[in-house]
Amino acid sequence: MDKTQLIHKFAPNADNLILILHELQNNHPQHYLEEEDLRAVASYLNMTHSQVYGVVTFYSMFSLKPRGRYIIRICKSPVCELEKGNRIEETLKKDLGIGAGETTADGRFTLEYTICLGHCDKSPVMMVNEDVYGDLKPEILPEILSEYN
Ligand code: FES
Repeated sequence: MDKTQLIHKFAPNADNLILILHELQNNHPQHYLEEEDLRAVASYLNMTHSQVYGVVTFYSMFSLKPRGRYIIRICKSPVCELEKGNRIEETLKKDLGIGAGETTADGRFTLEYTICLGHCDKSPVMMVNEDVYGDLKPEILPEILSEYN
């Protein structure tokens, strides 16, 4: 499905802005929004480019630069931090050789932070794209990451 088709899955109503942006970003192999996407969405919704740009830059889930095929989001909210979430973060950074906001050289993973994912009973928690992983321990991370190629 090309970008125009993705956009036209939604009615041309400004209330659909976030949904359309998600659709475009989720279907981009590098999980980001290109400049042409912002222009196309603005035109379709009869909004200005700066209105769309303002929304994209306000929400941390949107990116204007290329990211990995898989986005790892580490929960940085207090419950996960107290449950040794920092050990998970340190292990991921070391194993992947990247810092927060960076992408591995092979374009496979991008490491990001997120706020509470709503699974505090399983802290520490992280997401890989749409998959949630809880009760994390450093030693199980390689097995989890091996599922994403
Ligand atoms: S604090 Fe991490 S999932 Fe709630």
